[in-house]
Amino acid sequence: MTKRKPVVAANWKMNGDRRLVDDLMNTFQGSAIFQQVEVVLSTPATLLDYSQQQRQNACPEIVLAAQNMSHLDSGAHTGELSAQMFKEVGCDWVYCGHSERRHVYGESSKLTAKKFVQAKEAGLVPVLCVGETEEERQKGKAFSRLTSQIEAVINLAGKDCFEGALVAYEPVWAIGTGNPATPEIAQEAHKFIRGMIAAMCAETADSVRILYGGSVKPENAQALFSQPDIDGGLIGGAALKPEQFMSICQAAVGQ
Ligand code: PGA
Repeated sequence: MTKRKPVVAANWKMNGDRRLVDDLMNTFQGSAIFQQVEVVLSTPATLLDYSQQQRQNACPEIVLAAQNMSHLDSGAHTGELSAQMFKEVGCDWVYCGHSERRHVYGESSKLTAKKFVQAKEAGLVPVLCVGETEEERQKGKAFSRLTSQIEAVINLAGKDCFEGALVAYEPVWAIGTGNPATPEIAQEAHKFIRGMIAAMCAETADSVRILYGGSVKPENAQALFSQPDIDGGLIGGAALKPEQFMSICQAAVGQ
């Protein structure tokens, strides 16, 4: 079995400023954590250029990610940002289909799949975010929801689409609530997702990193990350506190 390098990815959402970028870089500069964990920073788009400059100076190991992007190349699309623009500013990865894009801004699985393809074509690593609502879980429909979200990408991008990509399982009911999934519930979902990928390509399923997101904190990170199919986390609130974010990174290697 492949040893998958854990990933701990920050998602600042619509928060943060230049000072917070500086604080994060100061906390991580010179850290040995980079040898064992892939650390990802995703700031608001307006901070990416500054983050790129600062990481080049202080923490070149940090991966820079966009939170969202257009599925189109260019043109009359007021307020949108393209994959090429994110590439130019130094981004390496992009989150596709975050729960807030799907549930607050009504973005469909079909549109998410287009963004996923667009990212890959531009050379950005897509992180496909999936997850069921509380109601879907209560009705026993969690796995059918995950299936439809993942199938939308497979249908558009083909059976090998998860090669060079990541998945984040983020149950909607756990995001920003302070109530994470239990390690058992998260592991069950991650195993299901890996199984779906394995049905197409065993090798990709073995190497693809599947992150858990939803109320990850320093106190609960280790129990979640020690599950066999959980390869790290996508961190919202706790990523706004560099010390907490560092503790979560340490939890990914059992420190
Ligand atoms: P949270 O957010 O850690 O604040 O729950 C996670 C996410 O939305 O990616």
